[in-house]
Amino acid sequence: MAGSGPGGQSPQGGRTLRWGVVATGRIAHKVTRDLARLEDAQLHAVSSRSQGSARAFAEEHGFAASYHDGPSGSGYQQLFADPRVDVVYVATPHAQHFEVVRAALEAGKHVLCEKPFTVNASEARELVQLAGERNLFLMEAVWTRFLPATRRALELIRGGTIGTVRWVQADLGFPAAYDPADRLWDPAAGGGALLDLAVYPLTWAVAALGFPQRLTAQGHLNQDGVDVQNTLTLKYPEGAAAQLTSSLQAAGPGMATISGTAGWIRTGSPLFNPRTLEICGLDGRIEVEDFHEEAEGFIHELRETARCIRAGLQESPLMPWNETLQVMELLDQAREQLGLRYANDLREAGT
Ligand SMILES: NC(=O)c1ccc[n+]([C@@H]2O[C@H](COP(=O)([O-])OP(=O)(O)OC[C@H]3O[C@@H](n4cnc5c(N)ncnc54)[C@H](OP(=O)(O)O)[C@@H]3O)[C@@H](O)[C@H]2O)c1
Repeated sequence: MAGSGPGGQSPQGGRTLRWGVVATGRIAHKVTRDLARLEDAQLHAVSSRSQGSARAFAEEHGFAASYHDGPSGSGYQQLFADPRVDVVYVATPHAQHFEVVRAALEAGKHVLCEKPFTVNASEARELVQLAGERNLFLMEAVWTRFLPATRRALELIRGGTIGTVRWVQADLGFPAAYDPADRLWDPAAGGGALLDLAVYPLTWAVAALGFPQRLTAQGHLNQDGVDVQNTLTLKYPEGAAAQLTSSLQAAGPGMATISGTAGWIRTGSPLFNPRTLEICGLDGRIEVEDFHEEAEGFIHELRETARCIRAGLQESPLMPWNETLQVMELLDQAREQLGLRYANDLREAGT
């Protein structure tokens, strides 16, 4: 929903935030469709490496400005230098998240960055520190955390409806056609099931059970060195556990089940955007709650980003920095055990 003039007061009374979108790939289109529906948001600028993509994206979604690589430098940098941009949504492949987000923060922009936040925890820590120093808002776009169904599930879990949580089981997978040019399979883009998919099962485990005492990872790397499937086992005090599978080889139910001493909750599929919750007590009676989803579901993370920026927050209480860092640390541990290495790991922290 278009707001008033640049940086002015919106009809709702909140300051209209002027958004910049970085990259014009698949997810950028989807999220931007929800951004166009957001209250008090102005679609100010989009940037791309290519002029054609930047212009086509700007025209399709109604951005006032577009930037691209050329004699004036990188399109992304030009967007960061635009003083009319308040907040940037970053939708490049994972391997570029660190450099792009760092440049945006250094230019004084608030940032919402796609998942996985970075390729490794060291990059994530550096970005969080930078946002802290610059007093800027920064958040990983784990849209699942902001959905009404997820918030309801966590409210029930934290309210004790299923007693003490003892185990979580979650999976996400699909048979993806091998295409070495696609970021999913490309080691240079941070390809593989772990970084692309495991974030979601892990998000449910960490939200329900917290940070584990130990993580054990099993999986298989293909000839290019990216993982085609992985299973993570998380161990918690007193035997509580999570078992999480993500796969680029096989389809699964794509659900999360959270089991406790007084019952269980199962999300609808897919677990990254559930529209139903099944809730079962010890009497075996299953209640189903339905959730009507607004737009494509990305609007909730966008709304939370805008709310936090207006409130002067640097991090969202729904998806705090610590949770992003914990998930990145678990991904690092899994990668270590799987032998999964990326070029980003060679970069020394602080350079
Ligand atoms: N939240 C979700 O549900 C969700 C879903 C899918 C993906 N994602 C995440 O979003 C990110 C992007 O995924 P995607 O599926 O949109 O990828 P994609 O279709 O490959 O698009 C990525 C875009 O990034 C830009 N880019 C910058 N440097 C690049 C490089 N070296 N190689 C390739 N592209 C580069 C390109 O845009 P320009 O040419 O315009 O610069 C490209 O179109 C990933 O981190 C992924 O994990 C999230």
